[in-house]
Amino acid sequence: MCGIIGYCGPLDAQTVLLNGLTQLEYRGYDSAGIALFDENSKIHFIKKVGKVAALRKVCEEDPIVSHCGIGHTRWATHGGVTSENAHPHVAGKVTMIHNGIIENYHALTAKYHLEGKLHSQTDTEVAAATLNEIYNGDPFSSIHEFLRQLEGSYAFCIMFEDRPGEIYAVRNVSPLVAAYTASGAMIASDLTALLPYSKKYFVVPEGKIVQLTAYHASLYELDGTKVEPEILEASWNTDAAMKNGFPHFMMKEIHEQPEVLKKTILPRLTKGLPDLSDENIPDELLKRITNIRVIACGTAMHAGMVARALIEPRLRIPVTVSIASEFRYEEPLIDDSTLTIVISQSGETIDTLAALRLARECGSTVISVVNVKGSTIARESDYVIYTHGGPEIAVASTKAYTVQIAALYLLFCRMALVRGVYTEEHAEQFMSDLLNCASAMETMIRDENTINEIVTHIVNYPDVFFIGRGMDYAFSLEGALKLKEISYIHAEAYAAGELKHGTIALITDHVPVIAIATQKHIFAKTISNIREVKARGAYVVLLVTEDTAVDEGIADVIIRIPKEDDKFTVFPIAVVLQLIAYYASVQKGLDVDQPRNLAKSVTVE
Ligand code: F6R
Repeated sequence: MCGIIGYCGPLDAQTVLLNGLTQLEYRGYDSAGIALFDENSKIHFIKKVGKVAALRKVCEEDPIVSHCGIGHTRWATHGGVTSENAHPHVAGKVTMIHNGIIENYHALTAKYHLEGKLHSQTDTEVAAATLNEIYNGDPFSSIHEFLRQLEGSYAFCIMFEDRPGEIYAVRNVSPLVAAYTASGAMIASDLTALLPYSKKYFVVPEGKIVQLTAYHASLYELDGTKVEPEILEASWNTDAAMKNGFPHFMMKEIHEQPEVLKKTILPRLTKGLPDLSDENIPDELLKRITNIRVIACGTAMHAGMVARALIEPRLRIPVTVSIASEFRYEEPLIDDSTLTIVISQSGETIDTLAALRLARECGSTVISVVNVKGSTIARESDYVIYTHGGPEIAVASTKAYTVQIAALYLLFCRMALVRGVYTEEHAEQFMSDLLNCASAMETMIRDENTINEIVTHIVNYPDVFFIGRGMDYAFSLEGALKLKEISYIHAEAYAAGELKHGTIALITDHVPVIAIATQKHIFAKTISNIREVKARGAYVVLLVTEDTAVDEGIADVIIRIPKEDDKFTVFPIAVVLQLIAYYASVQKGLDVDQPRNLAKSVTVE
């Protein structure tokens, strides 16, 4: 949701910024722009509607020699996709890029009499103009006063016309990380842009100012007192954020799933048993809680639904899954007997973060399952289980989903053990079965050509239905979301038994129905529902385990996943559903990694 980057140093700033923006492009790709101090300390800016490649083309036609600049890739919030609305925004001495939303921009426009002086429809230009009104030649006191005027979320990188070779940055909610090496000082919305230059970095704390100069990123209190940042070391390498020969990031990330599942689980096994002592999660907490609230958005929320279907019937603890943006406004009934589990790949999703804060205010303990180290959600949780998925660049989440589920399964197993539901023998078996899911995923990845072929039968229909019961319904929700977001085919997931209460009216000749039937105890019921749609002419693609006997004619195509215990079918099924969406997008010639209107890491409400 908007990517921002700043660089000061010996390298060619234009190249560093453009390469960084390419890494950050998955955060938003409506338009892009850069601003650079040239050798005579004059600021130039270039903006272009469309992707970073379009900006790169213009920049390379007429390169500017520079060693200090800022760059932005936009996901539009205020104002349409035009070059006027693209960042950077300039007002007097101030040049600014922004990720977030300034909520009181109307009030600021009135207070500083900006009406008629603005060139765009953006809240960011209002912010730039406000800072310009306040600017007194001292960046620290001016930024301090500026922040006092603002309401909303922001990460800003700012250049002042009279401070060549310097960049200032501040954040509230929206993420920013910074690094410095002999190659220069950098700041960006996320680590992937810094990784080619440095594995050491710091997370910019809220309410502090970063100053970038040629070789240094220094941290200051708002009053200008210098403070030492907490340096972290990234476990990801540069390769992790590259396609490495795959045609798309999504395909690469689908292929990485077996490996990252093992990376997430193996370090948390002691003698084959689940061990959360490195996460400091007390067994006493897992024993005492009487109910669980899972909070997340989108795919992460679907991972939570799988966890609910695992935990509630086995641990006999009520588990409620809430959409983060709803939870905030439903006056939730939670207290210190509730364990809140927050799930987020990016660790920055604003709705999820706000829900986390509310849950803690209500006295609930929060364990978060997060992929990005040092992210805001991770830092604000009582405990964190990091998934070791590595950077997920494709906008459609794949490996993050399966590692979230793996981490939640691990947490379940620890709870089952400490609550006496599982013996050590049971727990050991469970963890070993979980690890074996890596090979079940590999098997389905090897089947990718078959799935590509199956997709040719459904890709030209405007609607696709996904049906299943119990856990299979939770998988269906994710299958439908994946298909919608990257193939633009309208897809709906239905609890199989619910279709006949209205939706079956939409089933006519050849409408594709993807039916998932991996849960043995409800298999016969799902099969009856499949018969109902088949009788109305649906084109049925049935997903079952390889040991399932299926009557002739029940489906047009059957995809068989390796034989798994019901609890673990999610892993191979996820791969199949991801491949269906992937090939539908490829066959339609769409932009798999950067689907329209979307962005990774949703930092607006
Ligand atoms: C869909 C997808 C989104 C995210 C959601 C939450 O493929 O990626 O639905 O799952 O925006 O994002 P995180 O997990 O970063 O909080």
